[in-house]
Amino acid sequence: MLLPWTLLLAFFSQQNPSFVFAATPAKRFYDTHKYYVIEHNPRAPSGAPLDVVARSLGVEVVERAGELEDHWLVRAPKSRRELVSRAEVTDHVLGAFEILKARSTSPLSARSDEEAHHARSIVASVKFLARQELRRRVKRAPPPIRPPDNTSASSKAVAERYSIKDPLFTAQWHLVNDEYPVHMMNVTGAWDMGYTGKGVISALVDDGLDYRNKDLTDNFDAAGSYDFNDHTDLPTPKMFDDHHGTRCAGQIAAIKNDVCGIGIAYESKVAGLRILSGPISDVDEAAALNYGFQNTSIYSCSWGPPDNGRSMEGPGYLIQKAVVNGINNGRGGKGSIFVFASGNGAAHGDQCNFDGYTNSIYSVTVSAVDYKGLHPYYSEPCAANMIVAYSSGSGKHIVTTDMGENNACATSHGGTSAAAPNAVGVFALALEARPDLTWRDIQYLCVETAGIINPEDPDWEPTHSGQLYSYKYGYGVLDAYRYITAAKDWQLVKPQVWFAPDAVQINDGKMTKDEKFSGGEPIGPSGVKSSIKVTRDQLDSHNFDKLEHINVKVWISHSKRGDVEVEVISPKGIKSVLAGARYGDMADTGFPGWTFMSIKHWGEDPVGDWTIKVSDQKTPKENGTFHGWSMMFWGSAIDPDKTSKFEIQPDDNLLPPSLDLNAPTVTVHPTSTKTHTKPTAHLPPDHGDAEGENSRPAFPGQADAANPSETAKPTSTPTPDEGWFSDMSNLVSSQKWLFGAVGAVAVFGIATLIFFWRRRVAQRKLATYTSLPGGDNVAMSSLRDGATGAPRTRELYDAFGEVSDDEEADEHTQLRGPGRSTGGIGFHSGFLDDDDPSTAGPTPKYRDEPDSGRTPREPERQPTENVPSSPSGSGDGSWEHASQTR
Ligand SMILES: *[C@@H]1O[C@H](CO)[C@@H](O)[C@H](O)[C@H]1NC(C)=O
Ligand SMILES: *[C@@H]1O[C@H](CO)[C@@H](O)[C@H](O)[C@H]1NC(C)=O
Ligand SMILES: *[C@@H]1O[C@H](CO)[C@@H](O)[C@H](O)[C@H]1NC(C)=O
Ligand SMILES: *[C@@H]1O[C@H](CO)[C@@H](O)[C@H](O)[C@H]1NC(C)=O
Repeated sequence: MLLPWTLLLAFFSQQNPSFVFAATPAKRFYDTHKYYVIEHNPRAPSGAPLDVVARSLGVEVVERAGELEDHWLVRAPKSRRELVSRAEVTDHVLGAFEILKARSTSPLSARSDEEAHHARSIVASVKFLARQELRRRVKRAPPPIRPPDNTSASSKAVAERYSIKDPLFTAQWHLVNDEYPVHMMNVTGAWDMGYTGKGVISALVDDGLDYRNKDLTDNFDAAGSYDFNDHTDLPTPKMFDDHHGTRCAGQIAAIKNDVCGIGIAYESKVAGLRILSGPISDVDEAAALNYGFQNTSIYSCSWGPPDNGRSMEGPGYLIQKAVVNGINNGRGGKGSIFVFASGNGAAHGDQCNFDGYTNSIYSVTVSAVDYKGLHPYYSEPCAANMIVAYSSGSGKHIVTTDMGENNACATSHGGTSAAAPNAVGVFALALEARPDLTWRDIQYLCVETAGIINPEDPDWEPTHSGQLYSYKYGYGVLDAYRYITAAKDWQLVKPQVWFAPDAVQINDGKMTKDEKFSGGEPIGPSGVKSSIKVTRDQLDSHNFDKLEHINVKVWISHSKRGDVEVEVISPKGIKSVLAGARYGDMADTGFPGWTFMSIKHWGEDPVGDWTIKVSDQKTPKENGTFHGWSMMFWGSAIDPDKTSKFEIQPDDNLLPPSLDLNAPTVTVHPTSTKTHTKPTAHLPPDHGDAEGENSRPAFPGQADAANPSETAKPTSTPTPDEGWFSDMSNLVSSQKWLFGAVGAVAVFGIATLIFFWRRRVAQRKLATYTSLPGGDNVAMSSLRDGATGAPRTRELYDAFGEVSDDEEADEHTQLRGPGRSTGGIGFHSGFLDDDDPSTAGPTPKYRDEPDSGRTPREPERQPTENVPSSPSGSGDGSWEHASQTR
């Protein structure tokens, strides 16, 4: 059995490392292996080649990390102890690197001369090394509740005019709104111009895409699709609640036929990138956001960190890097368009500036308004909101295609989840009209063409450039006709430039690598203010013409993060609220170099003093200190020939910042990087039925701050959103609900029993496996040689067991606040740590059906995936199976 593998390995080890540029990603084995990403600089002076680095760290190279140049996914087998106890022991790979780093700086001595030289060459060529953790992203989705509305004259007329036979078209009020004709995406004018999205591909980064539904089949782009959860080519939805991606896809590209309704860009194509149906590591999320990025124009992302009003999380280094890679190199250099839903946590006081995806300058952040044009209470406000698009509320939902048999349709889709794809559909129309629009042109067109709704809403405030801005509505509602009309004659903007004044340290404020604060000024009853001066000369020397986004990074320690309020006031007197109070955020970890974003200063002259004000709720028990801050200005160039593209460097949140953008930086991220808590979209079941509002500012002034929960109070009992409850509510509305309920309880109970039984079996099995000869070096292939199916089963149970073991850890994580988890391995993202039975309950059921829809395609890939069971005869120069050194 071993012979062929040895031969294959010998063969592959002769090849240039470039063979690992695989067409599709290799399957991952997180339960038996630890995965890392190395950023290897092949041009480092006196550096070491990748194979030497891998050998020195005791890892094997799996493949390149998605589309990230010089980034490599590597792995090392878990030790027997880790497999048995599933407890994290010392990480040998990170440990080996630390030793090399120490050795590389130690003074030369005769004995260690060669060692130090070796260590230096390794350290010089490793720019970044991080362990990959699995975590879970949260869908921003709603449950089905209401039946479709009946037809009416004017949508009927449109249907006739365009020969639309889709039975639910007249219920798609977001396309033609019979009751409130002002409030719709206003697409027919764009269709009249002949734009239907031809030649444009949008990717749904989501929980799958049901390409078998006739409403999508012909518009499905298989080449741009991939399942990063199950590592198969097609993004087939497999779990019972995997309907989210399909519904969003239908809004964009549902075909004009006799099924359901139609999409905004009904002749465009959609691809599915499945990442939400299980835990996901940074490297795979990064690969997903760049997948097929020359052909795919738009990435539709209706997910993010939990919308619970407590978490504060952003994308890790690799993900940020992938986003910037997409911006710089995607779509032939014009930049991938990333569209993010703002989040459904407004009822919990959540704000999109506490989410590093929605407050990224690279994403178009979309909030929701309902069919009456009102602000639905779930839709999150913040200064990074760019536009609103139509979604559920005040009694109506979004009608679209669904996952499931017989070409299912969805009649109760909604949330900001559904607002984002409506914007994606409009951008797809625009890119058909103007394929040369860059990612920033797309944003400019949003700012320029968005329409004011509810002009009497006190949340609207004038900007210096003469527009109105609202934290709830951004620059206003997206109107397809106006957007496309403006896009047709749009003059492309000049390239992007940036400018970062020195960070301000308040009273010698500092923060160390392990987030220890010192110095700073206590936040008294009147808050703490500080200013940064920007001069015309500074701008000129940075080739800086027109202001677009600003970033404000803050270092604040506080015993209750939710009490802190942050605002910045521009030289022209325009105020951006960056953080409003969040009554549920009890974290005592403060803001350790957290970056906020505002687009409220778009077009403003930035010369003069920018003033930040940090205050809290003045409660005697909770207090904090403001240690420092920095700003980053982004805009367009004076001279387009003197620009370069921004590159992401490994995180540096120190105060004072230590990052030298010109010097290569080596950072080892600890294994305890941010781990996602729980998959709850926090969109209550009445998201579509509750009446919207247009009379409350998102962030009441300081005077009202004493009663911060006033506007943020949930207007209904917060219940988890998806699947289970939604299906329950369907049951309730039919006569079969009693059977349904009893059945559901029974199924749940049985599933639980089966789960515990299986887990026990799995643990017993595990013990058997680990007693195989070969110890730590037992290969996956030899495990797999056993009875057919057993290894797979083991893998699945393992994952499950591991996860449930983490429940407790996650609980602690939450208590301590996000981003503070102390490591843990494998499926560590609170897989089951959820008050939502839709994710906790059915998982065992699905996991018990291992092979449905999965084709065993591994054999041809095994050479790069499996550690050989024979000790690598070493000296053969193979880094494929390099093992622990020294
Ligand atoms: C829609 O249904 C309501 C009640 O079911 C009915 O009163 C109304 O006339 C219907 N409208 C149309 C246009 O059919
Ligand atoms: C919607 O599009 C039509 C053209 O089809 C246009 O005349 C109208 O102004 C647009 N509506 C709004 C609210 O701008
Ligand atoms: C991108 O499009 C080109 C031209 O249509 C095609 O040849 C290529 O296979 C596509 N690549 C992917 C990854 O879809
Ligand atoms: C809160 O106040 C106490 C007493 O003045 C001080 O020791 C502590 O550092 C303060 N906490 C923070 C986070 O600033």
